[in-house]
Amino acid sequence: MSERRVLKMGNPILKAVSKPVADFSDPQLAELITDLWDTMHARGGIGIAAPQVGVLQQVVVFGREVDPVTGAEPLVPKTVLINPVITVIGDEVKDGWEGCLSIPGMRGMVPRHQHIRYTGVDYNGEAVDRQVSGYHAVVVQHECDHLDGVLYHQRITDMSTFGFEEEISLSGSYQPNECDD
Ligand code: NI
Repeated sequence: MSERRVLKMGNPILKAVSKPVADFSDPQLAELITDLWDTMHARGGIGIAAPQVGVLQQVVVFGREVDPVTGAEPLVPKTVLINPVITVIGDEVKDGWEGCLSIPGMRGMVPRHQHIRYTGVDYNGEAVDRQVSGYHAVVVQHECDHLDGVLYHQRITDMSTFGFEEEISLSGSYQPNECDD
């Protein structure tokens, strides 16, 4: 297990489309997932996608553990999601601040669907099928965009909101529920 280098905006791999995982017994898959968690934790993100470490496979990890002390459920449960498919539910779209480990130090307001269903498989090849809303839905959309070669700044509709985190925090408009992945 180890931390891997996170590719930054401008690297062509981040614009490429990832392939579905076909072989769940491949030891490189287990290694990739461990390294994704290590890399995400080392950088304090809420999620990370395989292309961000240079692997063009449909693998994302996101979320946090249940609080070991209070037993509180996290806003987004710790999840390995492979070969994901997102279906939008309803037409509610809301702007929220996002960041990305591949665009360090920056933030922007991104419109995202507020209710989605996502399906896929976990690390053991077991089916994942969830209907989620709000922040959880935003994180999944952000991560799955990486698999299509899309970074969040491409979805910003008001580019005047795109800027450096330190300046945006100072302006007082920054909300704590940002998505940094
Ligand atoms: Ni990201």
